Amino acid sequence: MAAVKRDNFGSRLTFIFAMAGSAIGLGNIWRFPFMVGEYGGAAFIIIYILCSAILALPVFFCESIIGRRTAKSSYFALESIAPDSKWKYLGLISVITCFIIDSYYSVVGGWSLDYLVRSCSVGLDAPSCEAASSVFGGMASSVWEPILFHTLFIGASALIVIGGVKKGIEKFSKVTMPILLVLIVTIAVYSISLPGAMAGVEYLVKPDWSKVNTETIAYALGQAFFSLSLGVGCVLVYSSFMKKDENILAAGGWTAVFDTMFAIIAGFAVMPAVFSAGLEPGAGPALVFETIPYIFSQIGLKAPVVSRIITILFFLAIFMAALTSAVSLFEVCVEHLVEHRKFSRKKAAAIFFSGCWTLGILCSLSFGVMSDVKLFGDTIFDFCDSLSSNYLMTLGALAYTVFVGWRMKKADVRDEFTNSGSLTANNKIFGVLYFAIKWLAPVFIVIIFLTNLFL
Ligand code: TRP
Repeated sequence: MAAVKRDNFGSRLTFIFAMAGSAIGLGNIWRFPFMVGEYGGAAFIIIYILCSAILALPVFFCESIIGRRTAKSSYFALESIAPDSKWKYLGLISVITCFIIDSYYSVVGGWSLDYLVRSCSVGLDAPSCEAASSVFGGMASSVWEPILFHTLFIGASALIVIGGVKKGIEKFSKVTMPILLVLIVTIAVYSISLPGAMAGVEYLVKPDWSKVNTETIAYALGQAFFSLSLGVGCVLVYSSFMKKDENILAAGGWTAVFDTMFAIIAGFAVMPAVFSAGLEPGAGPALVFETIPYIFSQIGLKAPVVSRIITILFFLAIFMAALTSAVSLFEVCVEHLVEHRKFSRKKAAAIFFSGCWTLGILCSLSFGVMSDVKLFGDTIFDFCDSLSSNYLMTLGALAYTVFVGWRMKKADVRDEFTNSGSLTANNKIFGVLYFAIKWLAPVFIVIIFLTNLFL
């Protein structure tokens, strides 16, 4: 069953770096803080952690088990375990979903690069929130600027993926991940030290349960899946490059811990600053791009150099995090073509670059000249986002758990999870995990999905 001439991640640590690189992204620094702000602070964080541990982690292990066992990309992995069945189409849907996510994700990635360049050059000075918001609106709704940065962003992810798993992805994430951690911790420390920041800290640690309802739970679960890159084969494909003697439990566990820790630290980097400036935490998706420049330029009135440096570091962090995540989405697509058509990585990357570039341009223009073009009532960007995060990802996650829990042989699942019985701790928890995979995760995902659908 061993694959021919396939790269592997060098060690468990480099696998975790790469996997954390995929997991930690805009979802942590951009999406998580504004969701915490909109859905009730600490209460949302607690529900999010529970969703990650009880529902998302089992899905992670499912993808990891399929990937490592077959050492193939999603389509062929499913086909080799369930030959002559329709399961392989789940792999194909995963590739298409990654393609859609990567397209709109690269638009936001492009914005972060744009803001990084601006903060290094002209600065992001915003005398008022309205001014910051009109800068952001002006940028996002213009035609050429976001397209230029989208192109650069997606080009950078393509180049890293062309480099391969070891020389591209592993090398890049090994360097960026530690830098990213230092950056975000620095910003959090700075943010907490601002006058009046304690109200923000309190908001993040004192739960207000009155704001919690089924919607909160649905969003927390969606966020947990998005943040851990689940349901679309990213974990599956990365795990297919994991060595046979690695520990799936440890690798997945550490990835989830880093990802969650990172999201929470990002919350501490953003919220205290928001409260310190006397702003509302529920600013929504604009939080990072509008509120942060305003806050930092307010501080800049007293300490211009420090504030400029922190702004640069902030957008550098977002850009780097976004890039390592986009790389994983791109890799799923490229690996599929490489295995399916025996294309070179370069050729496969060129094909997906063109596709994501085109769809991304439509997404980008939907903030401006194409804002009237609606698909089922949504702009193209919102449609791509909601189609992938609300439906394709959740159903994909469900399908992977059903595949491992109901289609694969239990003995094979155990064999892969415990490295043929040699890992004692994995053996001990296998019963609980298998229950979570077979019953808990699928049942809850269906309930939450349906609640969300009819909300
Ligand atoms: N997890 C990344 C983030 O938090 C985004 C991402 C990468 C992703 N791969 C994914 C989201 C697959 C969903 C599915 O920003």
